[in-house]
Amino acid sequence: MKSGEKRALLAVLGGGIGILALTVYLESQYQQREGRIDRIHAERSKTVAPKPSPTGLDTRVIPKGLNPLDLPDADGHGATLLTLYCVQCHDLPTPLMHSAGEWPAIIDRMQGHMASHHGGMLAHVIMPSQKDWQTLRGYMTDNAQIPLDRSQYTDLDSPEGQTFQTLCSQCHATPAPSQHTAREWPRIVLRMKAHMRNAGKDVPDAETTQQVVSYLQKHSKPEMQKS
Ligand code: HEC
Ligand code: HEC
Repeated sequence: MKSGEKRALLAVLGGGIGILALTVYLESQYQQREGRIDRIHAERSKTVAPKPSPTGLDTRVIPKGLNPLDLPDADGHGATLLTLYCVQCHDLPTPLMHSAGEWPAIIDRMQGHMASHHGGMLAHVIMPSQKDWQTLRGYMTDNAQIPLDRSQYTDLDSPEGQTFQTLCSQCHATPAPSQHTAREWPRIVLRMKAHMRNAGKDVPDAETTQQVVSYLQKHSKPEMQKS
C-alpha cells in the first residue's frame, strides 16, 4: 500500500472512530438528561398532587402515554414546544382534547400554575418565553376539536340528543357530530369510553353507547367528503 493510501485509510478510520466516540458521548448526555427529567417528573408527581381544577376536572383527564408523534402536525414548532413545556407537571396533552373556545382559559390557567410554582417547589420549571406562549396558544386553537354548533341541529332535545350531550360534554365542549364519518365514530366513542374509565368516570353501558353512536352517525360527515 502506498503511503498516501495508508494515510487516507488512517484518516478514514480516525474519522470513523471520532464519529463513534461523539455518538456515544452524545447518547450518554441524552440518557443523563432523560434520567434527570424522569427524576424531576417523579419528584413532581409527588409534590404536585393533581388539584381539582375550577371545572371539577383533574389531571387524570389527560390521557396517559400519548405518543408525541401522534400529535397534530407532530413535526411542527407548536408540537415541539408542547412536548417541551407541557409535560413538566402531567402527561402530554393534545390540542384535540378541547375546542378552540376552551383553550385560551386553560392556557391562562397553566400560565398561572407555572408562575405560582416558579421559584417555589417547582423551581426547575422551564418557563416558555412570550413568543413560545404565543406559538403554543396558536397551536392549541388551530388544531383543536370542533365544538357542536347548536343552531345546526333540531333534535338535540330527543332522548339520543340529550344522552349524547350529557355524556360527551364532561371533559370538553360537546363535539360536533359532523367532524367525523359514520364509520369513524364507533372507534372514537370506544376511545372516549377508555378515557372515561381512566378518569374514574361512569362508563356508559352498551345500550347507552349505541344510542350516542346512532346520534353521532345520523349527523356524521358524508363518507366521500375529503377531511
Ligand atoms: C407547573 C405545572 C404545570 C405545567 C407546566 C402545565 N400544567 Fe397543565 N395542569 C397543571 C395542573 C396542576 C392541572 C390540574 C388543575 C387544572 O386543570 O388547572 C393541569 C391540568 C391540565 C389539563 C387538564 C384540565 C382540562 O381542563 O382539560 C390540560 C389540558 C393541561 N393541563 C394542559 C397544559 C398545557 C397545554 C401545558 C403547556 C402549555 C400545561 N398544561 C403545562 C399544571 C401544569
Ligand atoms: C373522560 C373525558 C372524556 C369524555 C367524557 C369524552 N371525551 Fe372526547 N376526548 C377526551 C380526550 C382526553 C381527548 C383527546 C385524546 C383523544 O383524541 O383520544 C378527546 C378528544 C375528542 C375528540 C377529538 C379527537 C378526534 O379524533 O377528532 C372528539 C371528536 C371527541 N373527543 C368526542 C367525544 C364524544 C363523542 C364523547 C361522548 C361519547 C366524548 N368525546 C367524551 C376526553 C373525553
